[in-house]
Amino acid sequence: MMRDDKHDERPIKPDVGAIAGVYVLDDQTDTTREQMTQTAAAVAAGDLQAITAWLEPERIRRLRQMTAAHRDEVAHWLGLLGNVRGGGKRVTELRRALKARADDLPDAVQRGDVGADLPKGWQDPKPYICSAAGLYRDTEQGAVRITSRPIWIDQYLSEVNGAGDALRICWRSFGGGIVRRIVPRAVAASSRELVAELATHGASITSVSASDVVRYLDEATTKNEARIPRRDVSSRLGWIYRDGEPRGFLAGREYIGRPDDPGVDLMSDDGVESLAAAYGTAGTWAGYLEEVVRPASSSAAFWLSTYNQIASVLVRPLDLGTPWFIDRSGRTSQGKSTIGKAAAAVWQDPRAVPSWNTSKAGVEARAATLRDLPLMLDDSKEARRPDDVAAVVYMHGNGTGAIRGKPGSNGRAVGLRATEKWSSAGDSSGEQRLTSFTQDAGARARVLCLIGSPLASGEVARRVQLGAETHHGHLGRRVVRHLLAGDWGDLKARFADESKRLTRALKADGAVAERLGRIVAALKVAAYLVHAVGVPEPECDVWAAALASCRHGSEDADQPLAALRYVMQRCAAERARFWHTGCEKPAAQDPAEDERLYRPVHGGFAGRWNHEKSVDILEYVVREWLRRGGFDEGTIERWHESGYIETTASSRGRTVRTRIAGQTASVYRIPMSMFERYA
Ligand SMILES: Nc1ncnc2c1ncn2[C@@H]1O[C@H](COP(=O)(O)OP(=O)(O)OP(=O)(O)O)[C@@H](O)[C@H]1O
Ligand SMILES: [Mg+2]
Repeated sequence: MMRDDKHDERPIKPDVGAIAGVYVLDDQTDTTREQMTQTAAAVAAGDLQAITAWLEPERIRRLRQMTAAHRDEVAHWLGLLGNVRGGGKRVTELRRALKARADDLPDAVQRGDVGADLPKGWQDPKPYICSAAGLYRDTEQGAVRITSRPIWIDQYLSEVNGAGDALRICWRSFGGGIVRRIVPRAVAASSRELVAELATHGASITSVSASDVVRYLDEATTKNEARIPRRDVSSRLGWIYRDGEPRGFLAGREYIGRPDDPGVDLMSDDGVESLAAAYGTAGTWAGYLEEVVRPASSSAAFWLSTYNQIASVLVRPLDLGTPWFIDRSGRTSQGKSTIGKAAAAVWQDPRAVPSWNTSKAGVEARAATLRDLPLMLDDSKEARRPDDVAAVVYMHGNGTGAIRGKPGSNGRAVGLRATEKWSSAGDSSGEQRLTSFTQDAGARARVLCLIGSPLASGEVARRVQLGAETHHGHLGRRVVRHLLAGDWGDLKARFADESKRLTRALKADGAVAERLGRIVAALKVAAYLVHAVGVPEPECDVWAAALASCRHGSEDADQPLAALRYVMQRCAAERARFWHTGCEKPAAQDPAEDERLYRPVHGGFAGRWNHEKSVDILEYVVREWLRRGGFDEGTIERWHESGYIETTASSRGRTVRTRIAGQTASVYRIPMSMFERYA
């Protein structure tokens, strides 16, 4: 018979030669044999029904297995039954059924077929049997088929960021190949979700069999704990931590670890994969030095942007504080974007640097996936709305994404989604300064705006860009290897030292300059690393340029004053809207004059002009103007603190009461001295 031929072709695995459906099993053979004996006895005693009972599909199947392994024994048994009076007809039926069924059953399948695919030493959890013909459950009545194709686990994956463990579930596909799919443990534990996940990808699982499969997978995981290979995976790039210490680094798909580290794989997820694809290497280290670093070496912006790429991955391990941005702004075609590309070449293919034309949610997902790697955004002019730029700078600076709700569980109406986190440095370019998109004073302390023409000529720009596209991904990896072999304590001390020195140097330049000093300190530590791994020293005074940027940054950082100036300018421009002294008691005897004084003012009264003394502006008008000017409401409180507005003992919310056209009104009062000093 066919089956026997097959069996004979596999002399190396004689013991697995059992039979369709089930691999072994002496105890199963014994059970069948025992049942056969019982049947023979029952039939001999006149119970012919006992023969018909073997027509039940499961028993037919087992009988067929028995036939394949012990042909003579079954033949003898059938002969025995057929010899009993009235038994012949039934035995013929049984023989026919045995034959007919045989064609329906899968090819001779052996545990051996699937055995090679299972993890070494795999043991089926009782009462399940994983064979090439499917997954079976052993019952008193014999093995019951659960799935028509085998299914097993070949890897146990631990997500290192705490996103939960996963199993790599494998099954034979329709075409015979093996499909492997990473499924979160939480999904593998729910029959409904497991069906949705696996059936979509072609596994033979149904809502009926799912609960058995769930139990089987769970028990198989436990039983084979020592035999299923474990892998650490990460759905984020950047540093991989273990026990609070950086253990290794995922630069794209490549894991950089210490020699004894078995490694961490990038968790395959479509979005992460496509992002990681850009973070590979191309060209050579020597090529990078020769064609990117050398031509750009006289540009301070190039060096600061390059250091920033390295500083980004120091933020978390050295605890450098909240994320920041560095920004190159200025006229068009000065090489701002080119420098961005040259800097990006530290980690990635510069052609993959995205533009500002993206949504806030998109940036959030990107920053969270890149984790420690710098967030690059080119050309703020491309942003859909200026407000988006401000929102991104603000969000990135917080290091966390938006807090989002989700449908609640356990009786709660709503729950909270885990918020995304990152700790990176940003890199942006554009015609306008990044800080000009927002009036938020806090943003000014977190954006280092580089000034001055970045590159010497268009020719240099072209060379650098071409060089960066050809040679990239080397410097970042070198620094990571250096860091993994080195001493974090030394670098922390360096940062503390630099911070102290810069704070002192920038003290006179105001709070914002002082805070920007932190970024420069981080860049200094990064510079130390960049040159420690073999990049030649710059051919320009990088740090003078950095300090100039800090000082420059503080100059336009006084937002309350900027707001005051803006409001004073509007007062001057809309002077006609102000009621003024001498108007309270109109000369009633002259109707013409009266009319002039009460003539409706275009746009309505804005306030009252107290000559030589102060200007009163209606509360709502100030709020409206601040909003139009892009200043926030907190500005009024800052004005009060800085003494820019006058209040009286009876002031409510920093307003004073005055009379305009015979009516009492709440106004903010700006003394004339402010106009003289600042307008
Ligand atoms: N310093 C420079 N002098 C003259 N031409 C330059 C200079 N820098 C760049 N270019 C030219 O301008 C082109 C655009 O360069 P790049 O994209 O870096 O400029 P950019 O400053 O980002 O300009 P934009 O504001 O338009 O984005 C380059 O291909 C190069 O030929
Ligand atoms: Mg540009």
